[in-house]
Amino acid sequence: MAQIETSRILRVSGHNEIIQSPLPKTPEQLMFKYTLLEKRLDDLWTKKIIGKKGIPKIINESVEDLFKRSIPSHISLDQVTNEYLLPLLDIHNKTYADHSRRVAKMTYNLAFDYGLKNPENAFTQKELTDLYYSALLHDIGKIVIPNSILDSQNGQRGIRDIEITRDHTHFTGYILSLIPQTRHLAYISALHHERQKGNGYYKVDPNDISPLSQFITMADYFDAITNDRIYQGSETTEEAYIKMVNQVQLFIPLVLKHLQKSESFFEKLK
Ligand SMILES: [Fe+2]
Ligand SMILES: [Fe+2]
Repeated sequence: MAQIETSRILRVSGHNEIIQSPLPKTPEQLMFKYTLLEKRLDDLWTKKIIGKKGIPKIINESVEDLFKRSIPSHISLDQVTNEYLLPLLDIHNKTYADHSRRVAKMTYNLAFDYGLKNPENAFTQKELTDLYYSALLHDIGKIVIPNSILDSQNGQRGIRDIEITRDHTHFTGYILSLIPQTRHLAYISALHHERQKGNGYYKVDPNDISPLSQFITMADYFDAITNDRIYQGSETTEEAYIKMVNQVQLFIPLVLKHLQKSESFFEKLK
């Protein structure tokens, strides 16, 4: 009976398999449970058991099962991020975890600099702090996407691989919305691939895109095109700057204007 009380049964429908695993209470237990799920997700995505369109219900349910009630409600946002969530991305794909840390720093610096130059529209300290954690967690949804898909080269990817990779924004929003301490970050974080012309992953109307999300978009874009380990980017910082100031399709006017006026833009990124 005690065993039943401390354990839950995770049933994966259609696979005739039952895993008994304790409800995680510590970061280590959550990580252990994630490593079990990680193998299962690999199977689900790569063996094409699931349908082509939309987010498979079984995967949403598995993610919900992993995070619901797994993280203590009394701990801080910083602890949730650095002790529970980022370590999962570290073990799944260190490249994206490191990318996230760089993007968080750059995003914060850009938004802070924006406030210095536009004091009337400066973000509050709470907004800046939330933005920092939103950026740190913007790619957390990638823990749900197998590395065999994430790491495949752009040119060699099939349409299905591209669609699955794009689903990481859905999972970022979903994971963050399941955890009370991160729920308010879900919207900012999940929209980091939205575009000024409304042709982003979710095709969100530009009027509904938060400027805060766009600071993440900007730092994310810069890191992707300048860092060899992400998407084989190889632009120098100067080339990246020229490319970015011309991205009227990509960035909303507010952040694009900031970019164009900012001579010390790249110093702010570091
Ligand atoms: Fe992303
Ligand atoms: Fe990213």
